[in-house]
Amino acid sequence: MTYDVAVLPGDGIGPEITRAAVAVLQRAAELSGFSVRAADCPIGGAAIDQFGCPLPDDTVSACKDSAAVLLGAVGGPRWDNLPGDLRPEKGLLSIRGALGLYANLRPATVYPALRSASPLRDEILGDGIDIMVVRELTGGIYFGRRGRCEKDGEMVAFDTEEYSAHEIRRILKVAFELARGRGGRLCSVDKANVLESSRLWREIANEMAREYPDVRLTHMYVDNCAMQLVRKPNQFDTIVTGNMFGDILSDEASQITGSIGMLPSASLGEGSLGLYEPIHGSAPDIAGKDLANPIGSILSAALMLRHSLGHPDAANAVESAVRRALDGGLRTADIASAGGEVVGTARMAKSILSALQ
Ligand code: IPM
Ligand code: MG
Repeated sequence: MTYDVAVLPGDGIGPEITRAAVAVLQRAAELSGFSVRAADCPIGGAAIDQFGCPLPDDTVSACKDSAAVLLGAVGGPRWDNLPGDLRPEKGLLSIRGALGLYANLRPATVYPALRSASPLRDEILGDGIDIMVVRELTGGIYFGRRGRCEKDGEMVAFDTEEYSAHEIRRILKVAFELARGRGGRLCSVDKANVLESSRLWREIANEMAREYPDVRLTHMYVDNCAMQLVRKPNQFDTIVTGNMFGDILSDEASQITGSIGMLPSASLGEGSLGLYEPIHGSAPDIAGKDLANPIGSILSAALMLRHSLGHPDAANAVESAVRRALDGGLRTADIASAGGEVVGTARMAKSILSALQ
């Protein structure tokens, strides 16, 4: 069996981390008796430079014809002054939309070997942290009506937070089902004390909770959630929230685990096609210097094996290999600890490759 995977390296550190992840993905496949054929496609600033747009049609069709998509990162100061529709980030938003990937899973866990990399005190980390942030990915203010107009003689700009009932229902369904398979607790995060879209979200969540008697649903305002994540992170099991709140809270959740460089994500829709990317950005300041942590991308490849390619054993093998490399003391600069050996992207990737069994 051979799976086609579209690889969208993008900008900054994207190419080096996806290269590392593809190597691990292919070796894990080989060890499990199947193979992965990877084909690079342009997106983001790289596509703007080559083709004048952040998401060429050929990239979209290559993704649609693949079993899964592995994405690096997009963006960088070189393209910061382009109009909104021509920015690298627009390429990422458009591919999520074009593939109908409305459910973004962002697991945040603390690896025992990395406890000291967390900025939180040991007693706050307690028994550890294992949070699944489920972020709605193709709606809300990211995709709502936006524009500029003149009002009372001055320029006004607006972006609209809009959620339809079916968009809310389908993301909540993903979250309830995930929570059911985890700790059975789902915290829905909103701003229902101010926003009408949040009030509809809450109503639907409460309605759906009746279909999931085994899941304990709670609600939390987003400002309180931002505080609780650093005050008592292990109160959370599964969090579900809208597009922008999810963007912000998942960065916060990642930092309490030690480094944003560690965290993978899976973006899923109705079928098995998914897009897998680390949650960090393109880090242009360290691009091409063999300094980036490839683990976020490698763990994204593990999620791909589990959710799109249907090979949970190969996914577990990749995750164990990462754990073994970390237990062995290797650290990239972002997770360096006193006394540990600091290595570059390539060396970290190579040791994860050789830890694969
Ligand atoms: C992310 C990123 C993107 C987002 C940007 C690059 C558009 O921050 O994947 O979290 O906001 O979704
Ligand atoms: Mg983000």
